[in-house]
Amino acid sequence: MKKIPVIIDCDPGHDDALMLMLAFGSGVFDIKAVTTSAGNQTQDKTLANTLKILSLIGANVPVYRGAETPLFRNLVIDENVHGESGLHGVEFIEATLQAENQTAVEGIATIISESKEKITIVPTGPLTNIAAFLLAFPNLKNRIERISLMGGGIFRGNMTPLAEFNIYADPEAASIVFKSGIPITMCGLDVTHKAVVYQKDIDLFRAIGNKSGQAAAGFLEFYSVFYRENRVELEGGAALHDPCAIAWLINPDMFTSKFCYVEVETKGELTSGATVVDFYNVLNRKPNAEVCYDIKRDEFIEMLAAAIKNLP
Ligand code: RIB
Ligand code: CA
Repeated sequence: MKKIPVIIDCDPGHDDALMLMLAFGSGVFDIKAVTTSAGNQTQDKTLANTLKILSLIGANVPVYRGAETPLFRNLVIDENVHGESGLHGVEFIEATLQAENQTAVEGIATIISESKEKITIVPTGPLTNIAAFLLAFPNLKNRIERISLMGGGIFRGNMTPLAEFNIYADPEAASIVFKSGIPITMCGLDVTHKAVVYQKDIDLFRAIGNKSGQAAAGFLEFYSVFYRENRVELEGGAALHDPCAIAWLINPDMFTSKFCYVEVETKGELTSGATVVDFYNVLNRKPNAEVCYDIKRDEFIEMLAAAIKNLP
């Protein structure tokens, strides 16, 4: 089967790490590059974590360093979830990869302009790099097949009552992306809080027996602590946000979604960073995103386990 050409933009982050394992282990993608965003931690740390994870899973692809801060705001880091390194547990992994000299925007532009086929972009952190690329290279916009992103929410937030972290961190960048006219798949908190991993699943990953399964289990043991203490309604589970953006590309039928008009609030005192999703089409505007809101969780976990089995 023809592989889907993608560029992944991420801010590892534990769920970003599982997303990378799914992307590389699935065998479905021709991964042209990984670019790094500042979000879960500083750019220095998310880049270091990305190089370590890709080295662990034997992924030899170009890695490009992204923006240090959001387009117009100071960097907001949420250490509560991922720890001081941004990927607690990654410390023991040695990186064998190094970042390219070009920046993320330059790397994305080079790959897209040289590609004969359209490229799908998968952002799972703040959208700063993607927005900067679209501003710098508007002529390449029509060479993008789709943007399948983790971010936003229809009815909830996790940084404020209405804003999800990736959008909250750089609302202006997110607004540029949602207004771009590029086909968008939005995996927001409504679906990612159903993409829940439980202790039985962590034990399943560990039992795979390879080093990627061991690492995945270790990451998720740490990652679960925050959710068990702060998202009690998940009943001991942890929301696997970022892998959803990749899983949708592998099998969209695993999801329930709706085409909606989505705009990003960039000015509200209480609402900045909210994805305003017109779920009931009350504005009667042309939808600009396919918004996911449910997932077949067991199939999702099986997909992750199958991908991890294919890794070192
Ligand atoms: O709100 C969840 C998102 O914020 C995920 O991408 C997670 O990695 C953090 O970046
Ligand atoms: Ca992320």
